[in-house]
Amino acid sequence: MKEMEKKLTINEIATFCKKKGFIFPSSEIYGGLSGFFDYGPLGVELKNNLKQLWWKAHVHEREDIVGMDGSIILNPRVWVASGHAEHFEDVLVECKKCHQRFRADQLIEEKTGENVDGKSPEELHELIVAKGIKCPNCGGELSEPKSFNLMFKTYVGPKQTKENVAYLRPETAQSIFTEVKNIMEVSRKKLPFGIAQIGKSFRNEISPRNFLFRSREFEQAEIEYFINEKDLNNCPYFNEVENYKMLALTEDMQKRGNKEKEMSVKELVNKGVIKSKWQAYWISFEHKFLVRVGLKPEHLRIRQHLSIERAHYSLDTWDIEYKFPFGWKEIEGVSNRTTFDIKNHMKESKKDLRVFDEKYKEKTIPYVVSEPSLGIDRLFLAVLFEAYENNEKRGNIVLKLKPFLSPIKAAVLPLVSNKEELMKKAREVYNSLKKDFNVVFDKSGSIGRRYAREDEIGTPFCITIDFDSLKNNDATIRFRDSTEQERVAIKEIRDKITSLIRNDKC
Ligand code: ATP
Ligand code: GLY
Repeated sequence: MKEMEKKLTINEIATFCKKKGFIFPSSEIYGGLSGFFDYGPLGVELKNNLKQLWWKAHVHEREDIVGMDGSIILNPRVWVASGHAEHFEDVLVECKKCHQRFRADQLIEEKTGENVDGKSPEELHELIVAKGIKCPNCGGELSEPKSFNLMFKTYVGPKQTKENVAYLRPETAQSIFTEVKNIMEVSRKKLPFGIAQIGKSFRNEISPRNFLFRSREFEQAEIEYFINEKDLNNCPYFNEVENYKMLALTEDMQKRGNKEKEMSVKELVNKGVIKSKWQAYWISFEHKFLVRVGLKPEHLRIRQHLSIERAHYSLDTWDIEYKFPFGWKEIEGVSNRTTFDIKNHMKESKKDLRVFDEKYKEKTIPYVVSEPSLGIDRLFLAVLFEAYENNEKRGNIVLKLKPFLSPIKAAVLPLVSNKEELMKKAREVYNSLKKDFNVVFDKSGSIGRRYAREDEIGTPFCITIDFDSLKNNDATIRFRDSTEQERVAIKEIRDKITSLIRNDKC
């Protein structure tokens, strides 16, 4: 990212997204609804491409992971067993004057820069008093903090009674835990193996903010990776990543006030900072995936959770953070969830969820050595920040998305629209390409204006049909990033674009 792009603010990106049809505030004709968004025509394509690539990298390209798609509403006992009914809380404070509510930890962090994740309501209250923090809206005095459960409640069936209360899932993970035994049996997988899922999750966030970053309805892409606990350091893929380097910020470094520094996977494991080879493997695999979608390694860091910050189910969590204009922020969490969830489901359901491990010839509770949990909407936002370039030379924005992510792969442009033969040829090219790619046909405006329009939405290739095309059966491919142009026989365009997309060139 150049200096110029670094200054791009979250509001500017939100305005850009609305103007171009990536994202709209949900139900805006009624004033919108805080924390909810609609993906427009280009947004849905980009989001689908991100999800497809995630699925390919985590399911299709691997022999040890299968997928599932669970329901959003589950039996409410699931949330009792998982601990979410009791622990899935943030701490809120209310302004005594204007009655606006805020997340206590966010107010303190904004005022002091201190990470106060995991502190109790009493500790947060002491800090609010000590630092003299007041309502950011009206300067009023703040109430004592209290815990607030983030799960959305609803009723199942026509009776709106206590017995029929259910919740919209706050994470996709739980249906993986409840299905693990079924899936292992039907897919004939053996430990170690994983289950992948992409789907909507809902959290009644106290203060949704920063556009897509903190919303109340969002999508998660999650893996639960199961091993036999005896194999914590027996990761057959470790040698693929041991020399991979990432910016890392350990718990100890945070306590000393140090900044992140580049470390190899091997170093992190040898120093005992990452507690198992499997966990180290998954953190680096996920980091590599984020680089594959176009995030620069220098804009990514892995940060270990402080022990007080960890979720109730976690033994060790690492966030993969992206350097947003509003600071380093989590886009993915990678947790060691141990046997916590499955053990609790066994207790609550009284069902035996142990599986047979052929290696050790024993029944065992599948141990979740790693749960990579990626927010698709946060990834979408990071990808846009990374790709957005305000190109002063061209006088327009250029969205430098990787070609496989671009909502539209190619635009077919007849040089002029008032020549029937030219239009016919261009239509033929469009009709043949649309079978393989998401392409558009655009005949309106000057050719320069049409190129700029495609640059702004990240279309990597423009195919221009001109008078020579009629004689030679060829066309010009114009490349978004370089603006260079190449003459290509029409019958070769499809293969050329396929190979450019596959090789990530534009
Ligand atoms: P934060 O600390 O920012 O609230 P979290 O620790 O609660 O995030 P996790 O519970 O680890 O987040 O959820 C896994 C992933 O789901 C996150 O890395 C993030 O990408 C995504 N996610 C969580 N909450 C939201 C939200 N409110 N809006 C958008 N994405 C979210
Ligand atoms: N499944 C991890 C999370 O959503 O927190």
